[in-house]
Amino acid sequence: MSDYIIEMLRITKDFPGIRANDDITLQLRRGEIHALLGENGAGKSTLMSILFGLYQADAGEIRKDGRPVGIADPNQANALGIGMVHQHFKLVHNFTVLENIVLGMESTRHGVLRMDEARQKAMALSTQYGLTINPDALIEDITVGMQQRVEILKMLYRENEILIFDEPTAVLTPQEVEELMRIMRKLAGEGKSILFITHKLNEIMAVADRCTVLRKGRYIGTVAVADTTTQDLAEMMVGRKVNFNIDKAPAQPGEVVLSVRDLSVAGHGNKKAVDGISFEVRTGEIVCIAGIDGNGQSELVYALTGLTPAQGQVALKGKPLQQLPVRRRNQAGLAHIPEDRHKHGLVLDYDLQQNLALKRYLSDQLQRHGFIRFDQVRRYAQQLIDQYDIRSGQGPDTLMRSMSGGNQQKAIVAREIDLGPELLIAVQPTRGLDVGAMIYIHEQLVKVRDEGKAVLLISLELDEVFQLADRILVIYEGRLVAQLAGDQVSQQELGLYMSGSKRQEVDHA
Ligand SMILES: Nc1ncnc2c1ncn2[C@@H]1O[C@H](COP(=O)(O)OP(=O)(O)OP(=O)(O)O)[C@@H](O)[C@H]1O
Ligand SMILES: [Mg+2]
Repeated sequence: MSDYIIEMLRITKDFPGIRANDDITLQLRRGEIHALLGENGAGKSTLMSILFGLYQADAGEIRKDGRPVGIADPNQANALGIGMVHQHFKLVHNFTVLENIVLGMESTRHGVLRMDEARQKAMALSTQYGLTINPDALIEDITVGMQQRVEILKMLYRENEILIFDEPTAVLTPQEVEELMRIMRKLAGEGKSILFITHKLNEIMAVADRCTVLRKGRYIGTVAVADTTTQDLAEMMVGRKVNFNIDKAPAQPGEVVLSVRDLSVAGHGNKKAVDGISFEVRTGEIVCIAGIDGNGQSELVYALTGLTPAQGQVALKGKPLQQLPVRRRNQAGLAHIPEDRHKHGLVLDYDLQQNLALKRYLSDQLQRHGFIRFDQVRRYAQQLIDQYDIRSGQGPDTLMRSMSGGNQQKAIVAREIDLGPELLIAVQPTRGLDVGAMIYIHEQLVKVRDEGKAVLLISLELDEVFQLADRILVIYEGRLVAQLAGDQVSQQELGLYMSGSKRQEVDHA
């Protein structure tokens, strides 16, 4: 029997304008957790999509247990025991959890669906792996963490033995990441073989046995994780030394930019999602709202940006916002890097330049007498593409949908920062970015601050909070329970506030 359960040998794949995979070899051992690391656009999702039968390689060979196989579509992948959790989930939103798990595998008797058997099997797996679900909930009503459990159960339901996880942790809370790692270890312990894409080097160190590194579509090498360090991995990935620390001088807060008074947002039932919150953000400071996911952060941001109705006062440089629609708030000087890039950040069927110009095409720079100046749009887009190193096959003309996840994120960040807003609300701004891009975006946020603008950061990543925040406001069950100086609090202490075990009277001044 071959040492390898799956081998992808000398795989090449072209897309318009770009060779996404260039002669890549990846060998997966039985029962191992094999990480796949590379910059945004390096070709990771493409390679995994070839293994899952979504794309066909232009050259190269795939072997299973040493024998060449053809994988024309996901059904064939499934028949070979290969399952995949996609970077952007592919669940059917108006179906229930159970229907999604079973989809395409429905057992019937005399042509009648046997949902009771399916339910039993799904629930047994759910218990066995500690993947708690509500089988009757609609996908559109559940959190991303829960959606991911559904994706994993879908693979287990199909009895897949080769499991591909494409950036599963990018959308998870730190607690959910721990949980997922535990599950991956259990699965590998049972002999399943796992391919794991992540940009978080510490996750690779914690859970993977080996790691294959790609750079710009090419194979760089495969290393045993026990013999390597995060510094080495980062260097292999970007091809030069990586400095993880950014320079940041002490904040010099000036006048108030954002003032929030007694803001409340309705939640489920009688409980408010945001419950009488007051705070301010000044010029020249980065204020971070820290908290465990689901404590009102999303609703707070929706209320500030005008995506949801709210009670209370919100003012930007003294101008009341609460009655204004989204566009008018933008015009008043508010920019927003949203939590859900597909839902609120991008138009996937537009190309890159249209997405970059989305909030500017009414400006004199980009339109004249009501007509869009396409040459100017292109020039403007190209400038942002260069500055933010947004990688894609066809530059400004690339369809957004075809771009890699991290490069989609870079496009949003570039567009919003470049608006030159008075206040930038950044929610998980570096989600899905490779370490190099993450450091660059962190530097840009500090630059926005140092240019005398205000930044409100919402992040679940404690590392990011500590890296950037001048002031930390802790949110717990819809209320602010602590205000802390960014450089005077430990991770442990912050954790106590976030979990609600500790609180202070927050000074509303
Ligand atoms: N369907 C497609 N059509 C055209 N180009 C594509 C398509 N899918 C991917 N590409 C291009 O191939 C390159 C590799 O993309 P891929 O999604 O594999 O990157 P990735 O390593 O997964 O990056 P990320 O970390 O950002 O998710 C990118 O330049 C992308 O624009
Ligand atoms: Mg990807």
